[in-house]
Amino acid sequence: MKKNSHIEILPTTQELFEKAADFIVQKGQEAIDARGVFTIALSGGSTPPKLYKALVRHHKKSKIWQKTAFFWSDERPVKPDHADSNAGTALKYLITPLTISQEQVFTVPTDRIPIQRVADDYEDDISDFFHQHNMDPRFDLILLGLGEDGHTASLFPHTPALNETKKLVAANWIEKLNSWRITFTFPLINQSRQVLFLVSGKNKAGIVNKVLGTKDKHYPAQNVNPAFGDCAWYFDSEAAALLIRGA
Ligand code: 6PG
Repeated sequence: MKKNSHIEILPTTQELFEKAADFIVQKGQEAIDARGVFTIALSGGSTPPKLYKALVRHHKKSKIWQKTAFFWSDERPVKPDHADSNAGTALKYLITPLTISQEQVFTVPTDRIPIQRVADDYEDDISDFFHQHNMDPRFDLILLGLGEDGHTASLFPHTPALNETKKLVAANWIEKLNSWRITFTFPLINQSRQVLFLVSGKNKAGIVNKVLGTKDKHYPAQNVNPAFGDCAWYFDSEAAALLIRGA
């Protein structure tokens, strides 16, 4: 395990999402105490809605939300009202229930064309936000998921964005999905203060063990290593089953 990483394994899925929600709110308060704002980048897929429901259920009244800026670590090339939209999912299960004002919400401008402009404009939005707060583009917390092929955000195996060393946001062609994706790059992810991988379910046990149980870097998620931050891995017992057995 890398020196700036730590693992939490929760017995049940419900406990996983409740503990992750508590962790996010704790990090949010720390950020606001230190810099007056909490910058968070949300992820996509099927895992986040369970987290969002735990945040709304247990932390709806938290004072952090009025000083939180919401971004996305990746997005599909669809409008927010599309079922595949990561922003649309968050708007439905988190942003709207928390009555967050739209000035605090920075969705990926997927309506721009061509796709490269979407990435460039989102990078500008991120840079402008941090510049206005006299800060470098360094997120307080970036939420990430883990795909069964070891991808995270939309940094899929054997795709061009894996090799990006300068840009903070990339338009990434995903051959296996026959689709473009907009994604944070490793330079942006690895300059964050806190990364939170949230992984649930027995279907992830194999990739969890490969990503954390082997030293060779075969999988994109293994390249997440915040230089001046912490990387937390939160699992339920199903997702960590092989990791535990191998311990
Ligand atoms: C996306 C995600 C992606 C996701 C993983 C895990 O837009 O699909 O950001 O990286 O986090 O694929 O997805 P699940 O949570 O559905 O397992």
